[in-house]
Amino acid sequence: MKETFYLTTPIFYPNAKLHMGHAYTTTLSDIIVRHRRLMGDETYFLTGSDENTQKMVDSARKEGKEPLEFLDGIVSNFRTLYKGLDISYDQFIRTTDQKRHWPGAQLIWKKLVEAGDIYKKAYEGLYCVGHEAFITEKDLVDGKCPDHGTVPEFIKEENYFFKLSRYTDAVREKIESGELKIVPDTRKHEILSFISQGLEDVSFSRPRKVDWPQGLGVPVPGDDSQVMYVWCDALANYITALGFGTDETLYKKFWPANVHVIGKDILRFHTAIWPAMLLSANIPLPKTIFVHGFITSGGKKMSKSLGNVIDPEELLQEYGAEAVRYYLARHISPFEDGDMTRESFKEAYNADLANGLGNLTARIMRLAETHLGAGARPEVADLPGEYTSALERFEINKAADVVWDRIQALDQKITETAPFKLIKTDAEAGKKLIFELTQELYVVGRLLNPFMPETSKKIKEAVIANKKPETLFPRKD
Ligand code: MSP
Repeated sequence: MKETFYLTTPIFYPNAKLHMGHAYTTTLSDIIVRHRRLMGDETYFLTGSDENTQKMVDSARKEGKEPLEFLDGIVSNFRTLYKGLDISYDQFIRTTDQKRHWPGAQLIWKKLVEAGDIYKKAYEGLYCVGHEAFITEKDLVDGKCPDHGTVPEFIKEENYFFKLSRYTDAVREKIESGELKIVPDTRKHEILSFISQGLEDVSFSRPRKVDWPQGLGVPVPGDDSQVMYVWCDALANYITALGFGTDETLYKKFWPANVHVIGKDILRFHTAIWPAMLLSANIPLPKTIFVHGFITSGGKKMSKSLGNVIDPEELLQEYGAEAVRYYLARHISPFEDGDMTRESFKEAYNADLANGLGNLTARIMRLAETHLGAGARPEVADLPGEYTSALERFEINKAADVVWDRIQALDQKITETAPFKLIKTDAEAGKKLIFELTQELYVVGRLLNPFMPETSKKIKEAVIANKKPETLFPRKD
C-alpha cells in the first residue's frame, strides 16, 4: 500500500499580483511534495485563493471592475505564475466556488453550532483590513497597524462569535503532546506562550455589505444577512477542496493533512483557531504545521515605496524557473527570515549554477560523449539518509547543500584524477573513470528532482543518451 501525503499552501489574497514571498511559500511546498512523490507516496497538493475579502472588492473597484470579473483576472495571473515556477499542484481551490467550497464551509459552521460553540453578540472594535482581523488599541503604533501602515476601521455591529476560549486547554495539549506538530520549535513555543494567556472568543461572521455582489462571501447557514468571517471560511478550504460536505472520496483518502505550509504571520490562525474549529466539529487535526520565515530585500520588508520589490515574473523571464527555485531552496533559510536582492541572486546563479552544476555537467558529458560508446542508467539506490531526513524536517536548504556537496566533490574528483589525461595514457582506466563520473552525475540529477525538476530530467537523459546537453545555465553579466 502506498502512503498518502496531503500538503496545502495558504490560499492567497487576490487583491494584487503575487510577489516573491508568495512564490516562496508555494515553491517550498512544491519541493516537499515532489520529494514525497520521489519516495513513492501518493500525494495531493492543494493551493488556491482566499477571495471573500473587502480588500479585494476595494482593489476591483479602484480598477473600475466588478469584483468577480476582477478575481478571474487575478486568479489567471496566479496560475500563470505557478506554471512559470513549475508548481505541480493538483487543485486550485477558490473560496467563491459555490459548488466546491460553500457547502463544506457551511457544514463545518453547522457543526460548530451543533457543538454549542456559536453565539450572537453585539460587538465593537478596531478592524484591520490588511490582517482581515480585529486588532486592539495596544497593537497600534501612531494609531496605525504596524504591519500594514493603515488606520483600522472602527466597527460596531452584531455578529456571531466562536467559543475559541473553550478550546484553550485542548489545543494546548494537542500541541504540547506533538499530536499537532509545529515546526520549527521556536514557533511552537511562540504559540504556546500565546495560548497560555488564554484564548478569547472570536467574531466569526460579518453583516453582509451592500457593495458585495451575490456570489461573494459565504452566507451563514440560517441567517442570510450575515456572511462567514473570511478566516473561518478560508481555513475550511483545506477540507472543502477534498469534498468535505460534497463528494468525500478525496476527503476520506487524504484527510488529515500531513502538512499545512504557512508563513509566520498566519501562525495564530492555523495553530489556535483552526485546531479549535476542528475539535469543535469533531474532525481530526492536521498532523504538521510548517511555519517559514519572511523574505526581505536588502534587509527590509519588500515594499513599493522602498522600491525593493522583486517581481517573480521578472526573475522568471530573465533566469527561468529552475534558477528561481534553486535560489529559494538553498539561499533562504526555511525557518528564519531570509534576504534576497537582484545582486545576491545573480551571484548565486553564476557561482552555483553556471559555474557549478552547469559546468560540471558539460565537462563530464563532453568527456563521455567523446570517449564512451554508450550511456547507462545506474542502478536505483536509496536516496541518501541525510538528504531525505533534512527534507522530512523541512530543512530544504540543508537538503540542497547535500546535493551541492556532491557537485563539489565531483568537481574535485575530476581535478584530482584528470580523466582527460588518463584517457591518453591508459584508455581502459580512463573510460572506467569517465563512466563512473557519469553515474555519479546521474545520482546528482536524481537528487535534484524536487528542487529543479527540469534540470534533473535533462541531466538524467544526458547520461542515459550519452550526449552532452545544451548549456544548462548560460553565464549572466
Ligand atoms: N489569505 C491568507 C491565508 C489564508 S490560509 C487559510 C493570507 N494570504 S496572503 O496572500 O497574504 O499570504 C499568503 C502567504 O504568503 C502567507 O503564508 C504569508 O506568510 C506568505 N507571505 C507573504 N509575504 C511574504 C514574504 N515577504 N515572505 C515569505 N512569505 C510571505 O495570509
